[in-house]
Amino acid sequence: MGKGKNVTSDTVAPTGRAPIARAILITGATGGIGAELAYHYAAPGRTLVLWGRNPQRLADIAARSTTRGAKVFTRQIDLRDGDAALAAFEEDDAAHALDLVILGAGLSDIQGPDDMTEDPGKVLGLALVNYATPIALATAAARGMIKRGGGQIALIGSVAGSYELPFAASYSSSKSGLAFFAKAAGLSWRQHGVFVTLIAPGFVDTPMSQRLEGPRPFLVSAKGAARRIARAIARKQRDYTFPWPFKVLEVLVRLVPGRLRERILLKLAVGQKDRA
Ligand SMILES: NC(=O)c1ccc[n+]([C@@H]2O[C@H](COP(=O)([O-])OP(=O)(O)OC[C@H]3O[C@@H](n4cnc5c(N)ncnc54)[C@H](OP(=O)(O)O)[C@@H]3O)[C@@H](O)[C@H]2O)c1
Repeated sequence: MGKGKNVTSDTVAPTGRAPIARAILITGATGGIGAELAYHYAAPGRTLVLWGRNPQRLADIAARSTTRGAKVFTRQIDLRDGDAALAAFEEDDAAHALDLVILGAGLSDIQGPDDMTEDPGKVLGLALVNYATPIALATAAARGMIKRGGGQIALIGSVAGSYELPFAASYSSSKSGLAFFAKAAGLSWRQHGVFVTLIAPGFVDTPMSQRLEGPRPFLVSAKGAARRIARAIARKQRDYTFPWPFKVLEVLVRLVPGRLRERILLKLAVGQKDRA
């Protein structure tokens, strides 16, 4: 477990009206979307707690966020270790009284064309990073927020969570599970002042989608994605799918008979560049 690290010594006093979210934790802050979210929220009066694995990216993103006036703490952590993540969260929550937690870390994998199944080891890692650890962290966050009178949690899912993708069974099911969790937990916690937002992006131009072979329709920039995500959080939306054609597709696909849907899904050919 990495220790929380303060990368700035000067606390910037809030000016004027208190910001809606004072202390924000972002997992996957070293990723394309996470970094842009950090820059979006970086402002005087805000504390950002940034989690990631890549130490250089963490330091760079923290430095840039600090220049925008935020007080920034970083934590290098691997979310495959759920117990360590929970312990780290308790530490950060006790130190900063987090009022917005964005769980954005994630990994994707696509079955190779010659493989009959995904790699079981990778499936386990993906399930931990995309589903098990985020739902445990969300629950820990909700506990603290309920005690303090409220807060917000955003989980970054995917439009892939709406489809049983045969070439990415672990990814699509992890995001589907996350969506179901967001719905169920959101229903429960809302009564106690904690609002959950499930974000379901289509293709966003980050290292994750850059590895895909083939077209990335309706591609959104990471900066554009961060802006949309922050807007959905500010509006306390229960779920938010973007860009909008994917929402339309989701509705249309429901009208397709099951057998035909399966045939279409089996015909989808998606590849991935590096298969590390
Ligand atoms: N890009 C898209 O088209 C797209 C579409 C739909 C949904 N999403 C979702 O959006 C979220 C952000 O993805 P992105 O596009 O920004 O991808 P990205 O640039 O590849 O970033 C992934 C982030 O997850 C972190 N991460 C991965 N494995 C981890 C682990 N074991 N422990 C801790 N952190 C780990 C990475 O940390 P390090 O780099 O430091 O290892 C990085 O910060 C993900 O949940 C993804 O599923 C993305």
